[in-house]
Amino acid sequence: MTTSEAPGVVRLGPGAVILGIESSCDETGAGLVRLTDAGPELLGQEIASSSDQHARFGGVVPEIASRAHLEAMTHTVRTAFARSDIAPGRVDAIAVTSGPGLAGALLVGVAAAKAYAAAWDVPLFGVNHLAGHVAADTLEHGPLPRPTLALLVSGGHTQLLRIDDLAGRITEVGTTVDDAAGEAYDKVARLLGLGYPGGPIIDQLAAAGDPAAIRFPRGLTGPQDAPYDFSFSGLKTAVARFVESIERAGGSVPVEDVCASFQEAVADVLTAKTVRAATDLGIGTVVVAGGVAANGRLRALARERCAAAGLALRIPRPGLCTDNGAMIAAVGAHLVAAGARPSGPFLTGDPAMPVARVLAD
Ligand code: KG4
Ligand code: ZN
Repeated sequence: MTTSEAPGVVRLGPGAVILGIESSCDETGAGLVRLTDAGPELLGQEIASSSDQHARFGGVVPEIASRAHLEAMTHTVRTAFARSDIAPGRVDAIAVTSGPGLAGALLVGVAAAKAYAAAWDVPLFGVNHLAGHVAADTLEHGPLPRPTLALLVSGGHTQLLRIDDLAGRITEVGTTVDDAAGEAYDKVARLLGLGYPGGPIIDQLAAAGDPAAIRFPRGLTGPQDAPYDFSFSGLKTAVARFVESIERAGGSVPVEDVCASFQEAVADVLTAKTVRAATDLGIGTVVVAGGVAANGRLRALARERCAAAGLALRIPRPGLCTDNGAMIAAVGAHLVAAGARPSGPFLTGDPAMPVARVLAD
């Protein structure tokens, strides 16, 4: 199935199967996709999470995450094959998260992927985790229109990206100047004593609260502020001050209202800036991706505001928003469909891999 053109370039056609391996944070993911004329199709996947082991620390402990990846990797890969009805090893290429992420955690995935690629004699592509979050949407909704504006909201990143081509042309339009949206969720959950990860817990509690109960600040929304950048550390501090003032006065914290009002501030800023950027840049399609894209209020408000602005909106189903191996396989699929040079034998984890770099050397 492999045809070479420029020396070393691998280009695969419909029917090719790609294994994706993810290990950048606390989820060990393996997913299999098949290339079709309409883009990558998800065959099956498995995810093992170590989040329970981090809960009592209120955030991910890198050494614990690395160890958990090591313990979960082979079983996760084997299960992904079983779920996909593909015989183990019957793949045409492997994609693995090269970065960004935790150094030790990345290394486990890269080492495993190298071993599988050598054993099965298939090309290996070290790919960008952030491109993976966006590519996840193509598993559900098909190829992205060019260009598409992506709002990428995860535990480590909050960015607006212009996507001209998932196989290589991604440009940052805006980013957070301090905390990521998911980080703000996790920190607010921690200060409310709700556990880790904070996003799903706050999402759930917010449903019973009043989003207008407390007017928390909307970062970087003044007339002089960078229109496409984000800031969430002031919001987190405002929540902390609010909670402290109630506790000092001996009152009980209205947790549901705090969650709903915090969540409203996050969703309001994210969607307002996204719609503004798409409109200013003349981009007609928006995709929301990353773990925070699983958030109920963000999904609803994005739907409402994109419709009002005449923008097409795509959001992967919640299970494809949080970290998984299928999204990494999807990046691999876009790369081999376009023709790409596999990563070399010195491929390693790159904790600070820039978003514009989809494929590692
Ligand atoms: O993309 P992801 O799985 O991992 C990273 O690449 O960081 O995102 C994880 C983040 C965490 O901060 C988590 O609290 C947040 O996504 N998250 C949510 C929801 N589900 C996960 N945030 C808000 N609402 C949710 N339903
Ligand atoms: Zn992620």
